Amino acid sequence: MKRYSTTLVLLALACTMLSGQKFKGLAPTPPMGWNSWNHFACEVDEHLIMEVADAMVESGMKDAGYVYLNIDDCWHGERDSLGFIHPDPDRFPNGMKALADYIHSKGLKLGIYSDAGWQTCAGRPGSRGYEYQDALMYARWGVDYLKYDWCNTEGLNAQGAYLTMRNALYAAGRPIVFSLCEWGNNEPWKWGKNIGHLWRISGDIYNCFDCVKDHGGWNSWGVLQILDIRDNDEIRKYAGPGHWNDPDMMEVGNGMSVSEDRAHFSLWCMLAAPLITGNDIRTMNEETKAILTNELAIAVNQDTLGIQGYRQWAADSLELWVKPLSGDRWAACFLNRGTGEANLEFNWKEHDFDDDFSKRSAHFDKITFNYFNVWDEAKTGTTKKPLETTIGGHDVLMLVLSSKK
Ligand code: GLA
Repeated sequence: MKRYSTTLVLLALACTMLSGQKFKGLAPTPPMGWNSWNHFACEVDEHLIMEVADAMVESGMKDAGYVYLNIDDCWHGERDSLGFIHPDPDRFPNGMKALADYIHSKGLKLGIYSDAGWQTCAGRPGSRGYEYQDALMYARWGVDYLKYDWCNTEGLNAQGAYLTMRNALYAAGRPIVFSLCEWGNNEPWKWGKNIGHLWRISGDIYNCFDCVKDHGGWNSWGVLQILDIRDNDEIRKYAGPGHWNDPDMMEVGNGMSVSEDRAHFSLWCMLAAPLITGNDIRTMNEETKAILTNELAIAVNQDTLGIQGYRQWAADSLELWVKPLSGDRWAACFLNRGTGEANLEFNWKEHDFDDDFSKRSAHFDKITFNYFNVWDEAKTGTTKKPLETTIGGHDVLMLVLSSKK
């Protein structure tokens, strides 16, 4: 009997380890997809999600790499008498399994949302005390991604709560990307790596480039505010293949100006941020689509080295963010934080790039790089000559530099 139970324990342990391994390779580059919250908030149903799935394919978003279709808050119905969660039957009359099947038939993946507390942020049933049952349901439905929020968690230890859900996902056995949405309160970059694949570093994004939205008791943040909210030099050390800092889902296409959307997207690419769009893909215009599907910008984000960029230089309203790339290349993104046009004069030879974290450097007095402009490929140049140009307000100049050998 004793030998029998030891064997069972060892078997369970082996299963958990094997399932842990399946989770490891799920996000070698930052996850790309769409999430319902920024545009639709609680107005989600299966009809919308299916239409978005169709639009993801037809618009070319899927081909550009966006595969996760994530339903955020408010999909929930009630728990049954055994405690299992079910989707709202009015909004999801065919159930989650049928929706997952539809999404999978399109070559996409399904994401879902829950909360470590007893209720979600919008007051739907949370997973507290039901973690293993919820994970089992997600696995049965065919869910591929879980965003796990942090509302109504008074008294809970963040690391412990996220670990519990991770263990529940492992036990359910279906590989699921695990997105920690704890807003950076408990420094998740320090402990998130072995628990999830990405972790929020801030409160919610707000659809503006440079503002703080006061909701009375809590704030949401513009693009520049999120850029500044943490010590980037510190937190970037914790990001890498399989584990990413998440500056929140994007607002591209939700009403900012084209240059602001371009700058927002470029910065998220430079930060190796998860690229989770938050607009209405069904009705997006050509300008939004061109930004979200720019292959060169996406390649910077998805670079296999997975190094989060950093601020290299700043003067007046201008900043230079750089990101070491594979193949001895660098991405360089000049950002104009101001609203007016700014003149840029940048003599590369006076600015060595030396990244202590990645041990990569570029000394332009010794090596010449050629570059092209990510947003206007026809524009190329060389670091031999100082860069002299103007950058519009709330806009960027994003370059990819390759060394001439
Ligand atoms: C929190 C999260 C958001 C969103 C909402 C849903 O605010 O940070 O991203 O999921 O909850 O209620």
